[in-house]
Amino acid sequence: MSGRSLLVIVLAAGEGTRMKSRLPKVLHKVAGFSMVRHVLAAANAAGATRLAVVVGPGREDVAAEARAVAPGAEVCVQTERLGTAHAVLAARAALAQPADDVLVLYADTPLVRPETLLALRAPLAAGAAVAALGFQAEDPTGYGRLIMEGDELVAIREEKEATPTEKTIDFCNAGLMALSGAHALALLDAVRNENSKGEYYLTDVVEIARDQGLATAAAQASVEEVAGVNSRVQLAEAEAILQRRLRVAAMEGGVTLVAPETVFFSADTKLGRDVVVEPHVVFGPGVSVADDVVIHAFCHLEGATLESGVSIGPYARLRPGTRLERDVRIGNFVETKASHLERGVKVNHLSYVGDAHVGEGSNLGAGTITCNYDGYSKFKTQIGANVFVGVHSALVAPVTIGAGAYVGTGSVITDDVPADSLAIARGRQVTKDGRGADLRARLAAAKAAQTDKGKV
Ligand code: UD1
Ligand code: CA
Repeated sequence: MSGRSLLVIVLAAGEGTRMKSRLPKVLHKVAGFSMVRHVLAAANAAGATRLAVVVGPGREDVAAEARAVAPGAEVCVQTERLGTAHAVLAARAALAQPADDVLVLYADTPLVRPETLLALRAPLAAGAAVAALGFQAEDPTGYGRLIMEGDELVAIREEKEATPTEKTIDFCNAGLMALSGAHALALLDAVRNENSKGEYYLTDVVEIARDQGLATAAAQASVEEVAGVNSRVQLAEAEAILQRRLRVAAMEGGVTLVAPETVFFSADTKLGRDVVVEPHVVFGPGVSVADDVVIHAFCHLEGATLESGVSIGPYARLRPGTRLERDVRIGNFVETKASHLERGVKVNHLSYVGDAHVGEGSNLGAGTITCNYDGYSKFKTQIGANVFVGVHSALVAPVTIGAGAYVGTGSVITDDVPADSLAIARGRQVTKDGRGADLRARLAAAKAAQTDKGKV
């Protein structure tokens, strides 16, 4: 397919009322990213040289998402919903520019793989004017049927127009279509809305092409891949399919998943070799994990970079901006955010490390908290190399702790601590001989007096 220019038109105009949501359907997420983003990513991976996204009127949110993913994408508005061919023609300006191939994709079909898009394009390079994507449906009701004569696609018949015999066909139209750039605009302009729905059907281009003596073909995909999402139930089904794919890819890439079905990835999760992921771990977007990392059970990661040899959890939460250098240890009930922990740092228990830089080899004891926020602004905590922070210490930012310094247990550190010094910031202990027993006697007497009064 190399050398052939490709215009991809993504139909993203559907509101998806069955989702019962304030959000337009195509902004709902699968594996951490919006459906329209998945489709645009597949289009790019399939070699798109130009992208056009067709949105409904006033859908600035969908347009913004499209531009965020594909800054060069042209956003077109379909002002009235008059059918799939009419939707494609909303991108008329893009279609008027020369392209060898045109692909029409649906933004609510997020699982389509680049390989399948290449297979759908392939007939165009062999001279076809139109190629449709079919799948074998268990229940074909509601779908357009691909009417084949041998390997040739002769027509696509919509359910409403199908004869009883045609309705028995279970080779169905996924909706995605490839059109030769040279013919696309003329074919689309020839579509009429004389059918039971009064819509301009994209599927009509097959018969129009054949009437002009042009070749048409079909490619095939699995039903899982072309399943459209129209409801929250189908959204969950798409999520399950994509998670299964991501788990298999992780394991095939050298990751041990102890209980794969309990681990959830984002579409962009990057994992090295000999990584072990224990049960019940969730990867949000933007996580990159190098070789030989161990992620113990019940961790949640997002926007985090883990270098090789790192170990986290169980029950660790890594938030965006976390960078853990080689061999860092993060233990149970530790949260990190916007923090860079240099090589070998240990934060083993019950801590919050936010907006911090921690130098190589430092050890933050149980319950160390960086107090990074005063309710209005965020402040940084700078910790040098080989610092030891005793348990249950609060480091009130902005604050700097110099290399080799030692912070006594239970300190509230509000002033900078110079390198190699010892800082203790807590009330001094007072111990009074015999006074414990005195206190008990007094308290017991008071209680007894109270109870006697109650009896009177
Ligand atoms: C379409 C196909 C059908 C196929 C099915 C697969 C046509 C005529 N029919 O039918 O053969 O089996 O998809 O799901 O193409 N859209 C717009 N603007 C419109 C109409 C539709 O943007 O005016 C978008 C929708 O948001 C959706 C896609 O096009 O993403 C398909 O539209 P939909 O109404 O669901 O088509 P179907 O009737 O299901
Ligand atoms: Ca549909």
